[in-house]
Amino acid sequence: MLTRDKIAEALNDVLVPGITYSIIRMNLVQDITITEASVKIVLASTALNENAQVWIKEKISELIKKLDKAVDIEVEFIEKRPLELNSVNNIIAVMSGKGGVGKSLVTGLTAIALCRQGYTVGILDADITGPSIPKMFGISTNPQGNESGILPVLSANGIEIISINLFLPSEDEAVIWRGPLIGKAITQFWEDVLWGKLDYLLIDLPPGTADAPLTALQVLPVSGAIIVFTPQDLTTMIVKKAVKMAQQMNKPVLGVVENMSYLYVPEIRKQIEIFGKSRGDEMSKAAGAPLLAKIPIDPKLALLCDEGHIERYDSEILTSFSKALQNALRS
Ligand SMILES: Nc1ncnc2c1ncn2[C@@H]1O[C@H](COP(=O)(O)OP(=O)(O)O)[C@@H](O)[C@H]1O
Ligand SMILES: [Mg+2]
Repeated sequence: MLTRDKIAEALNDVLVPGITYSIIRMNLVQDITITEASVKIVLASTALNENAQVWIKEKISELIKKLDKAVDIEVEFIEKRPLELNSVNNIIAVMSGKGGVGKSLVTGLTAIALCRQGYTVGILDADITGPSIPKMFGISTNPQGNESGILPVLSANGIEIISINLFLPSEDEAVIWRGPLIGKAITQFWEDVLWGKLDYLLIDLPPGTADAPLTALQVLPVSGAIIVFTPQDLTTMIVKKAVKMAQQMNKPVLGVVENMSYLYVPEIRKQIEIFGKSRGDEMSKAAGAPLLAKIPIDPKLALLCDEGHIERYDSEILTSFSKALQNALRS
């Protein structure tokens, strides 16, 4: 006897051409109807060209026939916008009062930490004029898809990534767009990209508190923000500015992350605070939110980023970071 569960399990093996995730994970399955002699499956055709649709139809028939030889199988495609299909549990914006503090690096590490805990994760690189996520993850393929939807590109460990960099003919191309176009790109990255089902979508916001990060906070249904700073930020002012912006947009600040907090010297087993005393507690108080992590200056990490292998970074800090983040989301 065919059941919904059995069919759903079979559909888990039907991959969406252009991304190695199933039609279930990408949330294309809209309805399954089972009668005594037939099965009808309704699928969204989002991001699928005609060939892909034919291929999926055949694959589904083949898999269901394996479960029940006699059953009639009908597959119907309907049109849906990616926005109608995206089902993301938590959207987290990573922001900073100014550039160059390691915001992108923290976004990348957050994604890796959550991914290692078994969550499904995506990164939307909203830093249109300074995109650096693809390089860190060593990806450069053009996103697949068509007018009905764009598919994210997958990192080595399956993190879904969209960045303006992936659409440019060369990685070094400069984006010199003005505000409205930047806002439009960010909006499209949310509304026209098929993210599917995700536990977490991280947004690498443009630095500072100007128009672009504001637009992103307006457009995206962000659940909360993480604010990144370094011990070089001598006043709490810069963090307070970012907090204020989040509050104005009614987005809770989940916590703060101190990057380049110290350098660990294994020979003497000591942490040296190169950029001065840690300001973690001070900034946490100023933000009214917990200090989620103190990330050391790590030459190995910088090298892995340059080589596009950030996912090979191994540190206990990642586990405690991801747990602190989940606690912050719960409270
Ligand atoms: N904790 C760290 N240890 C080593 N290198 C770091 C660290 N944080 C950032 N970097 C390096 O500093 C540079 C800037 O970081 P990035 O994340 O791109 O900053 P932002 O996004 O804030 O502009 C990158 O080359 C990155 O590899
Ligand atoms: Mg950056």
